[in-house]
Order: sequence, then structure tokens, then C-alpha cells
Amino acid sequence: MVYRTDFAATRAFFDLPEGVTYLDGNSLGPLPRHAARRVHEMMTDEWGKMLITAWNKAGWMAAPRTVADRMAPLIGAAPGTVVLGDTLSIKFYQALASALEMRPDRTVILSDSGNFPSDLYMAEGLIKSLGAGHELRVVAPEDVAGAITDDLAVLMLTEVDYRTGRRHDMADLTARAQAVGALTVWDLAHSAGAFPVKLEDCGADFAVGCTYKYLNGGPGAPAFIYVAPEHADTARPALSGWLGHQAPFAFDLDYRPGHGIDRMRVGTPPMLQVAALDAALDVWDIADIGEVRARSIELGERFISGVESRCPDIVLGSPRDPKKRGSQIAFRHPEGYAIMQALISDGVIGDFRAPDTLRFGICPLFLDKQDIDRAVDVLERILRERLWDREEFKRRAAVT
Ligand SMILES: Cc1ncc(COP(=O)(O)O)c(C=O)c1O
Repeated sequence: MVYRTDFAATRAFFDLPEGVTYLDGNSLGPLPRHAARRVHEMMTDEWGKMLITAWNKAGWMAAPRTVADRMAPLIGAAPGTVVLGDTLSIKFYQALASALEMRPDRTVILSDSGNFPSDLYMAEGLIKSLGAGHELRVVAPEDVAGAITDDLAVLMLTEVDYRTGRRHDMADLTARAQAVGALTVWDLAHSAGAFPVKLEDCGADFAVGCTYKYLNGGPGAPAFIYVAPEHADTARPALSGWLGHQAPFAFDLDYRPGHGIDRMRVGTPPMLQVAALDAALDVWDIADIGEVRARSIELGERFISGVESRCPDIVLGSPRDPKKRGSQIAFRHPEGYAIMQALISDGVIGDFRAPDTLRFGICPLFLDKQDIDRAVDVLERILRERLWDREEFKRRAAVT
């Protein structure tokens, strides 16, 4: 396939260490070359010289909206419908709380066992705090469509499974949920920046995601929340912080929610992180998200066929049909953790998810065919020579 996106240029956009094949952009995107300079300028020219006046003069106060608008096209959202802030867990809590309140006569929340645990934990916590008898029903991913019943209040799903990369059909499940009068909350952590998401076309009600994975905003980069325009002025923000108030600097004693998506802001935005994310988003000036998806499939297929033909001991854990998966490929092996540590020590970085999954993020913005072939070569050697079978590779670190 001939691409209009210059993938050599997008690769040059990132500052990857020599000798490293980075297959973990699905967990933490790499450093954009000019992000450090951008953050440095922000610190010296804005924080350093403007001090507090930068909230107005440098546009800091508006940045959670203006920077969100830069990423909105990647997720099929109109300008003014997305805002940045806080962490994904918090944005998820906000979305679910607002959605539940919009269905006061219903108590069932449906999710699946492929959801990221934090989303399930946040739902459990919210249910306890509300004390209104909500029930969290968790079914297998393939059973979600059949579990959408008339009593459903909210369908809350992560579009792409963090372990297997299996992708839900967002348009279909949203339509099914809405047909029974329920609302949807989509977690786009493994979608945004990986492939085109069409929130408006799907009619999704709420969506949340992080910006440190495929959007390369750096560790601790702010999360985002999307609220469909038809709900934006009615959804009540459960976390009613001062920056979501209609007039934060009126310092009223009573909370009045702001207009539209602004009401989903909570407190002071992390401006150093927003500056880094803003720099990272520059890559989309030269990259087309549809082509990123096409190239991710091309590289992913190459990786799967290479591993399957040369590493017989390891089993594909992702859907074989590329249309049914996101941008990461999972392989399974009982010694997956040690194998991944051996790979990392050889400069091929992926990660591991319990109990037995090796995850490889296929991010074409900075990966090419040579990277894929090198990863297959190294994996084959590690397995063939049992190089993983060493104590040092079996010792579990805090982050896997
Ligand atoms: C799908 C999904 N949801 C939620 C989270 C939690 O994100 P955070 O730690 O930013 O709150 C993650 C973290 O990786 C995730 O992958």
C-alpha cells in the first residue's frame, strides 16, 4: 500500500533510544523530540516570566479545551465537546455518575470481564457511595449484546480490551443500548490515536480516555472526557469542582454547573503535562489516522505471521481478524513474564499482563517493518534457546 503519510517523518518526530524496538506505545507513548523544548519554554517563558498572569496571557485557563479540540477529530468529536483533566479513572467516574443520574428509574450497569479493572472498581465505589441499589453486571465480552435488557441504565465498556486487543463494535452496541433506553459510557484508552473513532457518528453518550498511550502525552498526561452535545448542558457533574462552575472567579458559595463540556472540569489543570501533550499532538499535522490504522494492520499481520511461523510455543491471544482488534497484539505463554523480561533486556520492549499475556503495541507512527522483523528474530531466539529461563527474569517488578 502506498501511504500519503510520510512514516519516516513521523518516526523522526520521536526521540527513541538507539537500539530499542519499542512495542509499548499502547501503554506509554515515546517522547516527541520537541516536547522537552516545549515544556522548557512553557516553564521559562510562561511560568518563569509571566508568573500567574500566564493563566490569562498564555491561555492556560483555556488550554484544557483548546488542546482537547486538537485531538477531537481523532475520536470523531466536534470542537467544544471534549475537555482534558484529571486521570482516566476520575473522568470515568464522572461520566458514569452523570449517566446513572440521567436514568433515575433504572439500576443496572452492564460491563464485561475484558474491561480494565479500574473502571469496574470505580463503578463499584460509585455504587456504594450512591447507596441506591445499583447492580454491576459483568458478562463475557462476547455476551454483551445479548445481555442488553430493558432494565439497563448504562452500558459501560472499554472499546479495546487492554489484554487481548479485542475490539467491540461501538456503533452496534451503542445502538442496541440506546434502543432499550440506556446510555453508553465508552473508555477509549486503547482507541484514541490508534484508529479512527467515530463518537458522533455512533451517537455515543459519554466517552473518556487517556493521552499517555497512543497520543504520546507522557506519563501522567491528562485524561479526556467527551459528552454528547445533547447531554452537555443537562448532565450533572458529580465532581463539582470550582473550574466546572459557571463563573469560577465569582467565588459563589453555591455550585452552578458551567456551560457544556466545561462543567466536566474539576480543578487546576496540570499545565506542564498539557504543554507536553500539545507538543505530542503536532504529529497529527503530518499523520492521517486512517492511514495509521491501515499501517498498523499491515505491521500487525506481519508480526503475527512471523511469530506464528517461527515461535511454535507461543499462542495468539488476539482476534485473528484485524477488524476485530485494536492496535495491539497479544501472545500467550505460561512463562510470559520471564519471556518479556528477556525481550526487554535485548532491547525489544513490550509488556506483560497477568496471567500469561505478552502485549505488543503496533504503533506505526514510529515503527516500521524492520522493527517488526527484529522483534520476531529476538523472540524466536529467546524461545529457542530458553534465554528467559533465568531467575532475574522471573522476579516480578511493581509494574509489569
Ligand atoms: C482501559 C483503561 N481504563 C482505565 C485506565 C486507568 O487509567 P488511569 O490510571 O489514567 O486512571 C487504564 C490504564 O491503563 C486503561 O487501560
